[in-house]
Amino acid sequence: MDFFIKNCILDQEKTDCIVVSIFDLCELSDSAVYLDKCSNGYITSLIKLGDIQGKIGETLMLYKIPEISSKRILLVGCGKKNEINKSNFKEILKNTTKILKKLSIKNVIYAFSEVNINNIYWIVRLMVLSIKESLYEIIKINNLNTKNIKNVKIDSIILNISKKNDLFIAKTSLKHALAIDYGITSSKNLSNLPPNVCNPLYLSYQAQKLAKKYKDNIVVEVIDMKKMKELGMNAYIAVGDGAKNKPFMSVIKYSGNNVLHNKTIAFVGKGLTFDSGGISIKPACRMHEMKYDMCGAAAVYGILIMAAELQLPLTIIGILSGCENMLGSNSFRPGDVLTTMSGQTVEILNTDAEGRLVLCDSLTYLERFSPNIVIDIATLTGACVTALGESFSGLFTNNKDLANQLHHASQETDDKIWSLPLLSEHTKELSSNIADLSNIGKSKAGAITAACFLSNFTKKYNWAHLDIAGTAWKHEKNAEATGRPVELLCQFLLNQSNYIYS
Ligand code: BES
Ligand code: MN
Ligand code: ZN
Repeated sequence: MDFFIKNCILDQEKTDCIVVSIFDLCELSDSAVYLDKCSNGYITSLIKLGDIQGKIGETLMLYKIPEISSKRILLVGCGKKNEINKSNFKEILKNTTKILKKLSIKNVIYAFSEVNINNIYWIVRLMVLSIKESLYEIIKINNLNTKNIKNVKIDSIILNISKKNDLFIAKTSLKHALAIDYGITSSKNLSNLPPNVCNPLYLSYQAQKLAKKYKDNIVVEVIDMKKMKELGMNAYIAVGDGAKNKPFMSVIKYSGNNVLHNKTIAFVGKGLTFDSGGISIKPACRMHEMKYDMCGAAAVYGILIMAAELQLPLTIIGILSGCENMLGSNSFRPGDVLTTMSGQTVEILNTDAEGRLVLCDSLTYLERFSPNIVIDIATLTGACVTALGESFSGLFTNNKDLANQLHHASQETDDKIWSLPLLSEHTKELSSNIADLSNIGKSKAGAITAACFLSNFTKKYNWAHLDIAGTAWKHEKNAEATGRPVELLCQFLLNQSNYIYS
């Protein structure tokens, strides 16, 4: 499916459908006014029947419109003209695309460029990413005869840009959006795989494929268990020891061609391809969802794809911390004391608090690159889902500037995050009478104590932790990865690259 940016003469384009907006109280958008004039008032005459007012959620499909070359016009309610924002525009676009998907429509024009949102850059970005999200389908692994009956699929989408002066920015925006979408889709596809396919070794193969594909900019190093032992990554190893699928940590190094500055930005993704809880085993109900415990790693994978596609002028390190938390005679136990790569010792009180153990050694490993900024992304705690639900990822950081930059990118993309505190009250909860730290806290503030645990390993750089336990996949009967927070972090990187739009 291809996108095109074009300044169309709407009545003359021969497509299967033109989508135009209508605002509340039957106020036509400029494109709708134009089409109405061309069709001698056909649209206004239909509106007079009262079938559509322009409220959000309303749509009306028109056929056989006089003097219009396209086969259909879809009128889409966009609510009050001044009240449209990124969130509801996204929903409008997703609904619209769902309607088109069901019909025999191959090519379509979206004439939404007059919508009142920041500027044309964001209108195009929102359109492309929302449409792509609605068209996404999980890759099925099936042999039964359930072939898709519907054979007409949307294969070309024209985004009509009503002002010629906007064409250049619209094209830049399309380029960015397609690269971000490629990152999001790759991340979702990886996350949705079953855990018997996507294991730590498989993750490392995906990383190595990036090095082949983007050979001028990406180098990958895979750290296996033997190297981990040499490095003293005993916490990471302990988590993976009980599993037949051994741990692999993939280190992806991206170097842009004309780097803007000598800052290094690093991302670490929790890559538990399955988290059974280990000896502190999880309850059976919904345990299958723990295949998504690698969504942090999948996000890092997606972010690097976007960076390489757009050839960002930055130096980026991406770590996929692949591991499987299983039960076996070699599993680590509650009561064990582990010496982490940093030298700090940890008493294990619950083997289900494994993400922080894999991450702490990955975070220490990163010190060798002297990164300026490190962001870890992890489906770390059920407590974060309790605190923030499924719409906000939890943000923890040791640096105000970094927090501001992430909040800014979050507002731009509508990929929501919420700051939670990291204070001494919480650090105290991690005390142990036998080791430097214990691996769980004592109170119910589980998302915070988990972040506090990590903060003991991130003193050498500016660090942020995103707990994506609630946002990485839809916690429903038919669970599916969301691809979050790939867009947020891609935007963060675009901002670091000093891209200027508007
Ligand atoms: N991967 C889980 C966190 C999780 C649970 C994410 C449910 C999404 C949905 C993590 O490894 C875990 O098990 N955390 C424990 C920590 C506890 C033992 C301190 C949790 O949240 O229950
Ligand atoms: Mn766990
Ligand atoms: Zn986990």
